[in-house]
Amino acid sequence: MKFFVDTADLEEIREAADMGILDGVTTNPSLMAKQGISGKQNILDHYKRICEITDGDVSAEVISTDFDGMMEEAMVLKDIAPNIVIKIPMIRDGVKALSALSGKGIKTNCTLIFSAGQAILAAKAGATYLSPFMGRIDDISWDSDLLLEEIAEIYEIQEMDTEILAASIRSPLHIVKAARLGAHVVTCPLKAILGLLNHPLTDIGLEKFLADHRKANS
Ligand code: E4P
Repeated sequence: MKFFVDTADLEEIREAADMGILDGVTTNPSLMAKQGISGKQNILDHYKRICEITDGDVSAEVISTDFDGMMEEAMVLKDIAPNIVIKIPMIRDGVKALSALSGKGIKTNCTLIFSAGQAILAAKAGATYLSPFMGRIDDISWDSDLLLEEIAEIYEIQEMDTEILAASIRSPLHIVKAARLGAHVVTCPLKAILGLLNHPLTDIGLEKFLADHRKANS
């Protein structure tokens, strides 16, 4: 399973790259705004900086909601770097844009996925990645496990090539579940990735090893 970081924070991206676990990056307009990035040129420049840190796929989300606008934005975004992936919302014109971009050999990430029906449509339109939002589903007490399982099963039966990119990850447990349920990629805040490190028995065990070493070598 590939690890993407879900952030526009360059420090977080660098840290994941330094750990050797970074396969790509996803962003969205909220994450860009959180970093204080606004204005067309600043946004393009920021994507360029992200692409200088990683060769992995970097999802850049369009703001337009009509086909022509999405295509126009996509053509500008794709020229930033060869690893830019155009992130398109699951709406009617978004499906048209997915089909058109796929026809041009441009990679896409279909975002805001909350149902198996949406997943089928995105794959049919040729999306490279599909982003089911695990956290937001669980936030309203639906079960993101069931959705992921259903999509993975459908894609396997139908031999659909679209990669499942588990998104809206809130915790290390979401990462474990995404891996178990067959997500090809998980995109998460660095904090959730670092949470995978933690186990009290690891800390206790290390403390004991070091204490024994100190005793034997004092
Ligand atoms: C990723 O591509 C999504 O935009 C992101 O994971 C959404 O996460 P959130 O639900 O924490 O905002």
